[in-house]
Amino acid sequence: MTASAALRRTFAPRGSLRGTVRVPGDKSISHRAIMFSALAVGESRIEGLSDGGDVASTAAAMRAMGARIERGPDGAWTVSGAGVGSLLQPEAALDMGNSGTSTRLLMGLVASHPIRATFVGDASLSRRPMNRVAVPLRRIGARIETSEGGRLPAIVEGIVPALPQSHRMEVASAQVKSALLLAGLNTPGVTEVIEPAPTRDHSERMLSLFGAEIERDGPAIRIRGEAELRPQHVIVPGDPSAAAFLAVAASIVPGSDVTIADVGINPRRTGLYDALKAMGADIAFENPRELSGEPVADLRVRHAALRGVDLPPEAAADMIDEFPILFVAAAFAEGTTRTTGLAELRVKESDRLAAMAEGLAAIGVRVEEGEDGLVVHGSGGEPLSGGGEISARLDHRIAMSFAIAGLHARKAIAIDDMSPVETSFPAFEATLDSLLEKAAA
Ligand code: S3P
Repeated sequence: MTASAALRRTFAPRGSLRGTVRVPGDKSISHRAIMFSALAVGESRIEGLSDGGDVASTAAAMRAMGARIERGPDGAWTVSGAGVGSLLQPEAALDMGNSGTSTRLLMGLVASHPIRATFVGDASLSRRPMNRVAVPLRRIGARIETSEGGRLPAIVEGIVPALPQSHRMEVASAQVKSALLLAGLNTPGVTEVIEPAPTRDHSERMLSLFGAEIERDGPAIRIRGEAELRPQHVIVPGDPSAAAFLAVAASIVPGSDVTIADVGINPRRTGLYDALKAMGADIAFENPRELSGEPVADLRVRHAALRGVDLPPEAAADMIDEFPILFVAAAFAEGTTRTTGLAELRVKESDRLAAMAEGLAAIGVRVEEGEDGLVVHGSGGEPLSGGGEISARLDHRIAMSFAIAGLHARKAIAIDDMSPVETSFPAFEATLDSLLEKAAA
């Protein structure tokens, strides 16, 4: 792996944001579209795939295991697979880059195939816990060796036939759930996964679109292997987790009025928007419709005065990736925002509670870091002092969150490295520029 050079940038106010933009295809859905297409017999077409580095890691891994994956001149992708059970032995280690989703889902997939794969990743990914998938995957008969503390590099040696199991998950994680369902695809009989709390259901929706026998029964999801997947035409909605940065930017910068077209509004992903509305944000989901089994709308967001909220722990799963930017919104609210039940944020691309507490304090926000949440005291809509130098900690969402904070600060905010943004939203700065230029015009 070659680490890319640090990309230090500063962000300062440039007026209001106005206009209509799109965001990259949903990252979660894009990973699944590539994987399931690569497991179907025949050729699938995918429109709107995420152009981020994380999804590129998934595509490279599926190619290394025998799928043909190509981008056409119109930007749509074609993926040809040979069927569940037909994965080929990869010749080299699978480099997962920064992507936890690629790693965990593919560990599940490999676990029920007669192949052996080594998974490696960058410094951030190599610190993240993999036992949450390794332990249940050993129960189906796979041999899994992790590095110290259950981290990468890891070796997965799949087993055929794998044992169908009922898995009671310990953490509410869509990645763990999906890894076990993917393993179930090539396992004879019924694999059951029981969730402690509902998590994003893109795998279930898309597996059903591809023709798998999958059902939900309360907290249990059951899938019948050895599945035959049929190729599909998938249209990936815009990523609500990418749109979140623009929605908060429009909410906090006076005079803003932004529309983000074609954004996924799956209820398991829209917790941030519910929280912002509870804080007084002006957000409308316009023109709601459905694309490839997922609900979609155009998001219109106008500047509004925000007030602090107390977010209950149950709110966490539906906005798990959005806490960094929620804390930025809270920094501009009137009053105090309190969050708890967020221990999972410490094992994302960075320790997001520590990264946000440190960064917010550096730009003049009063913030208290608890064991599993932050308390943020807001400015009441006033610009932040700014002026700090933020460490993005190889975490795209930390980098983008502080870039947005810089748009309403007295002194510019410097971010040590914006390069991780490439993993999920390569056009982040260009998209912001277009909204700021439209307003200036
Ligand atoms: C994801 C699930 C979430 C989320 C991640 C993407 C997925 O992780 O944080 O960015 O695509 O399944 P957990 O399932 O570990 O919470």
